[in-house]
Amino acid sequence: MPRYSFTVNGENVAVEVDADTPVLWVLRDTLQLVGTKYGCGIAQCGACTVHLNGAAIRSCTLPVSAVSGQRITTIEGLSEDGQHPVQEAWLEHDVPQCGYCQAGQIMSAAALLESNPSPTDEEIDAAMSGNICRCGTYTRIHAAIKTAAK
Ligand code: FES
Ligand code: FES
Repeated sequence: MPRYSFTVNGENVAVEVDADTPVLWVLRDTLQLVGTKYGCGIAQCGACTVHLNGAAIRSCTLPVSAVSGQRITTIEGLSEDGQHPVQEAWLEHDVPQCGYCQAGQIMSAAALLESNPSPTDEEIDAAMSGNICRCGTYTRIHAAIKTAAK
C-alpha cells in the first residue's frame, strides 16, 4: 500500500492507504478526526469542507494522493479552544440547529474571511453557496459571518 505524508492541524502524519482514497475517509477513519462530516460524497453539499493550504476544499472528492506534502486543517484544528472569530460569532448567533452541516459551514466561512476580511453580502452568499443546510440556518450563518468580519 502506498504511503502519503502531509500535515493535519499542524502535525505531520503518514498514512498507508490506496491512492484514490478520499481525504475525508483518511481524516475520519484513519486519523479519527470525525468532526468533518460525510453528506453527499460528490462535492455538492459542503459537509466535508476542510482547508487545504488555507483554502476551503471538499474532502470527499479529493484523493489522498493529491495532498502529499500539503497542509490540511480540519474543524478540530481551526483553533485550540473554539476561540476562532467565526466560532465565537457562531455561538453569539446561536447558528446550529441539528449541527450536521456546521463544521463545513464554519470552515468555508473561515476560509472566506481569511482571503476577504470584509466580504459584501453578495460575496458571502457566493462563498457559502456550496454549503447546504437542510435545517435552513442560512440567515444566522450570514449574520454570524458579518459579525466575525468586524
Ligand atoms: S460530502 Fe463532500 S460535498 Fe457533500
Ligand atoms: S444545522 Fe442541520 S443541516 Fe445544517
